[in-house]
Formats: sequence, structure tokens, C-alpha cells
Amino acid sequence: MMKKITLTLERHSTCSCVIHIGYNVLDRIGLLITNTAPAHHYVIICDSNVLPLCGEKLADILRKMKQRTDVITFPAGESSKNIDTAIALISRLIDLGVDRSSVLIALGGGVTGDMVSFIASIYMRSVPYVHVPTTLMAQVDSSIGGKTGIDLSFGKNLLGTFYQPRGTFIDLQLLETLPKSELINGMAEVVKYGIIDDIELFGILEKNIEGIQKRNKKLMETIVGKSCGIKKEIVEIDETDIGIRRILNFGHTIGHAIEAASSYTISHGNAVSAGMIGSARISEKSGYLSSAERKRIEKLIGALGLSGSIPDSLDIEDILSRLKNDKKKEGDSINFVLLKKLGVPFINGSVNEDLMKETIEGLQP
Ligand SMILES: NC(=O)c1ccc[n+]([C@@H]2O[C@H](COP(=O)([O-])OP(=O)(O)OC[C@H]3O[C@@H](n4cnc5c(N)ncnc54)[C@H](O)[C@@H]3O)[C@@H](O)[C@H]2O)c1
Repeated sequence: MMKKITLTLERHSTCSCVIHIGYNVLDRIGLLITNTAPAHHYVIICDSNVLPLCGEKLADILRKMKQRTDVITFPAGESSKNIDTAIALISRLIDLGVDRSSVLIALGGGVTGDMVSFIASIYMRSVPYVHVPTTLMAQVDSSIGGKTGIDLSFGKNLLGTFYQPRGTFIDLQLLETLPKSELINGMAEVVKYGIIDDIELFGILEKNIEGIQKRNKKLMETIVGKSCGIKKEIVEIDETDIGIRRILNFGHTIGHAIEAASSYTISHGNAVSAGMIGSARISEKSGYLSSAERKRIEKLIGALGLSGSIPDSLDIEDILSRLKNDKKKEGDSINFVLLKKLGVPFINGSVNEDLMKETIEGLQP
């Protein structure tokens, strides 16, 4: 059985995008893609790691259904999420005769999803695409909500658009080949959903550390399903990130500055975890969050194997200056997502600089 979550966006015309979640359902996903996004030609785009894991398999499934299908690939890793790779992939699309009657299939993690969706939004003034996310990060976060993007030398995701997929098709079985570090990386976003929106999810995580590490099927289904549901609800209210969607940034303001200051040697999950701890400490010190809840957050992050601290080698001034240049800041104020309590986040643009500095320093061991 596959679980179905429908994301509906009310704009000039209503647009809806269905998220399907199941276990060992790649065959079914082939069928669902052809029903949801019928096309004359499918092009699967995946990275070099994902190609042997499931790229050829999904292509065979579609070909057996008499669908014209090509697969194109690029080197795995964040360093590929740039304009050169995008142009190289676009050249391949031109060679293959891809047009608006084609559908692109983003098969992979967030790097693939962000880049394919970006290409889909600009190639021939937009072509349809679907997501088949293969990392936990992509299944719970990047494949939902239509944010597309590539990195520039000046910073991450600086070129991008909002462009919704025709559907997101999640096979939880694909998580089984995921390296442990990537599973933990994605868990940071799940913890974030628990903190900002769903105390029940937070409690499930606290009670099931071992099950998560063993990738227990039922548990992963619950975790991914609840996470997709939360993201869907927030995106439905604020597709383009001008209001409530900003609460999804919990831990990310500090986290992005840490990632960049480490030249991306610290993983997104670990950087966001340190950022979530920083934001919880700011919330406590500002008199909003109880010490008991702040401690629960720190305990869960540690128990999952995420790092809540940052190395001594990182330059605090560098992190602070990157915070001040955050692309989501407004004028001179940095918008932090703080907590009144678990499940009750709010945006605060007036955290003072001394508290910011003291908090970042406190993240070093
Ligand atoms: N658009 C959004 O809303 C959004 C949200 C969060 C993150 N992101 C973006 O997502 C990116 C990070 O995504 P990610 O963490 O998935 O990284 P990723 O896409 O680089 O994947 C991580 C690694 O896992 C490998 N991999 C993928 N699926 C696998 C599988 N099933 N088995 C084994 N290995 C597999 C990949 O080849 C890669 O080496 C960042 O660029 C970030 O900016 C976007």
C-alpha cells in the first residue's frame, strides 16, 4: 500500500501535487509517474552513485511500459550543483530532443532534486518534472515545496526559482543503501519538524533511537510520512517563503553560516543541529524557552549521533559576519526562528549581537 498526501496550492489556478510514500514500490512508481505526468519522453537525471543503485532499474521499468526513456547522469556531490553541470545537462537534453512534451525525473538526493527542478523551471521556459527522492534529506524535505536552486561561487542556492513538481514519489526501500552519515544528516530535518511543529513526532524520535539507526520499516514510514505532512501544510500556506514557511529555517540561520565558514566540510545535518542548539539556547537565555525543553532538544540531537558542537578551528568572527550577510535577512536585522516552547516557534529579528556571539562561542567544546 502507498500512503498519499496531497499538497494543494491556491494561486491564479489551483495546482496540486501528490506525494506518494511506500516500501519497495519502484514498479508502482513507474506506473504512477506515467499516470500523473504523461509524456512522450521521460528523462531520468541522477548522480553517479544513484545510477547503479536504481537509475537503470527505473529506466527499465518505464521502458517495459513502452515509454521512451533516457538516463543522464552527473558526478555525485554538492560540488556538482552549479551552473557548469546545469549547462552540461541542458546540452544533453537538447541532444535528446527534449521538449515540453517530455518529463524530467529527478532521481536522487537534494543535489539532484534542486538541480533538475531548476533546469526544469528554465529549460524551454519550463518543462514538467517529478521527484523520486532517494536520500532521507530529499524524502522529508527537498522534494517537497518547489524550491529549486544551484550554488554560485558566492554562496549556496543563489540561483533558483519556485517551481512545483507534478508529483513526489517516495520508495522508502531506497534508504537501505544510504550511508549511515547520510541517514543521520536527514534526521536533522526530522528533528526540526518535531521541534517546530509536532511534539508527538519529537517524542517518537526520543523513544526510538535504536529503531532509527536500524531503519525499522514501520518507524521510517511514520517518520517520513509525518515529516512530509508537516512540510506540505506549511508550503500550502506560504509557497514562496514570505511568512510561515520561514519557521522551516529553524537552526538554519546559524547552520548555514557554520557550513559556509567550514567551507562545507561540516555536513548540513551537523551544522543545522548546532544551529538548532544555538537557537534553543538563545530562546532560553531570552526568557522564552524552559531549560528542561532546551535540554531535551540537546539530548535528542546527541542521541541521534548528530553533532551539537562546532570545531575550535572555526573562526567565530567569520561565522558572525556570514550570519549578518544571510540571504534571508531583512535590512540590518537577522531573522532568527526562536521557540516559546516545543511546537511553538516564532520569528525574532532583534537578537542582540552579544548574545549571538556568546551563543556561537558556546557551541565550541
Ligand atoms: N529545495 C529544498 O527545499 C531543499 C531543502 C533541503 C536541502 N536542499 C538541498 O539538498 C542538498 C542536500 O541533499 P542530500 O543531503 O540528499 O545530498 P546529495 O544529493 O548529495 O546526496 C548525498 C549522497 O548520497 C548519495 N545517495 C543518494 N541516494 C542514495 C541511496 N539511496 N543510497 C546510497 N547513496 C545515495 C548521493 O549520491 C550523494 O553522494 C543540498 O544542496 C541542499 O541545499 C534543498
